[in-house]
Amino acid sequence: MIVCSCNAITDRDIHAAIDWMRASDPQTIITPGKVYHALGKKPDCGGCMALFLSTMRQNANLEVPAELRGLKELRKNTRRQRG
Ligand code: FES
Repeated sequence: MIVCSCNAITDRDIHAAIDWMRASDPQTIITPGKVYHALGKKPDCGGCMALFLSTMRQNANLEVPAELRGLKELRKNTRRQRG
């Protein structure tokens, strides 16, 4: 299924890019911009972004690495402790 009509990016392209990025770097944070970059494309109109994100979220490899989860909360708690 075509997800991005400006760049003819399919759902399979997005999943392949995510799987490749996760296999290449298990700790990477995968963003839509990185998926476009991995596919050698750039977003144009942005009209696909909701469907693009929805497609990305269907991929189990999108998950944030465990060691990087909760960093925002950790930072907030550290600030509170410093006063
Ligand atoms: S439809 Fe994806 S950038 Fe236009």
